[in-house]
Amino acid sequence: MDLSILNDLKLTKVAVSKIDTFDFENVKFGEKFTDHMLICEYKNGEWGPVEIKPYAPITLDPSARVFHYGQAIFEGMKAYKDENDDVWMFRPDQNFERFNKSAVRLAMPVIDETRFIGGLRELLKVEKAWVRKGLGNSLYIRPFMIATESGVIASPSNEFIFCILLSPAKSYYSGKIKVQIADYYSRAANGGIGAAKASGNYSAQFYPTKLAQEAGFNQVIWTDSTHTHLEESGTMNVFFRINNTLYTAPTSDRILDGVTRKSLIALGEHLGYDIKIEPVQVDTIVNAAKNGTLKEIFGAGTAAVVNQIEGFAYKDDYYQLPDVSDKDSYALQLKEALTKLQNKLSDDPFNWTTKL
Ligand code: COI
Repeated sequence: MDLSILNDLKLTKVAVSKIDTFDFENVKFGEKFTDHMLICEYKNGEWGPVEIKPYAPITLDPSARVFHYGQAIFEGMKAYKDENDDVWMFRPDQNFERFNKSAVRLAMPVIDETRFIGGLRELLKVEKAWVRKGLGNSLYIRPFMIATESGVIASPSNEFIFCILLSPAKSYYSGKIKVQIADYYSRAANGGIGAAKASGNYSAQFYPTKLAQEAGFNQVIWTDSTHTHLEESGTMNVFFRINNTLYTAPTSDRILDGVTRKSLIALGEHLGYDIKIEPVQVDTIVNAAKNGTLKEIFGAGTAAVVNQIEGFAYKDDYYQLPDVSDKDSYALQLKEALTKLQNKLSDDPFNWTTKL
């Protein structure tokens, strides 16, 4: 990392912090942000200086490409505080790499590690007090990049803004959720942008997810274009437990290479689970639900952490999953192992946590 890039970092602090009146206990995911944000502009073929300044609106030309063609990507990552008040980032290298993969796929410029991870470190140093300790607490980190060049010509922008926001967070869902398996709408296609963390991947899901919610479900589990294989849910990768084997779909052009997903696979293997990364057929899961061998389904993502699924609908039928005790639940065992590691309440044999 070439730290000299940060020599001209500009830091402007707020006159009065919002922290004293902030309700950390009741904050909803992603609704409120800390005092400062990081911003950096790309113009004339290069990234400019990094600026940390008070959280405030960004002014853009109404014809900026992001408004018309959705040239936008983002990441989701988290920071934690340990018992000694030290702040730790969880696998920031993975988000940095994926951000640049998304950038390439969306014809956007890649960003260097110094501005992304080095800049984030500087922002976190300013906002350290916003990271709360204790299991279940974290500071959600939202880096994003948008196309800012004006003009409605349908071609990639030559100007961009990279920005990082911080938001105190508990988990995304507050309990078990019900899902619907997609049998008509699709989230992604071969050769498409499904594997990128592109903003459009999420807006494309809003309408079918709204229909699912109107029918009483929280989320959709997306299937491939033939609607025969289970892929991922809107905010999470998905795991299926049949008897004592855990299945999850391999990543592909259509599936996000989730950092929580790959961390759970490694943790599960470490705990001695039998884990199979292979295409998961809808029929296999429906039959396993019918014959009682389907024990658990759960989602995994940075925002959601590990979220248990209580049942799923497929076409006209609903399948309720059996009650597995908390002690015997793979979802909860993995959640505990992951969150303890992230909060520095257990060892980190993988060296995933990085101290600020
Ligand atoms: C995350 O888990 O960080 C995500 O990006 C999901 C998001 C849509 C809340």
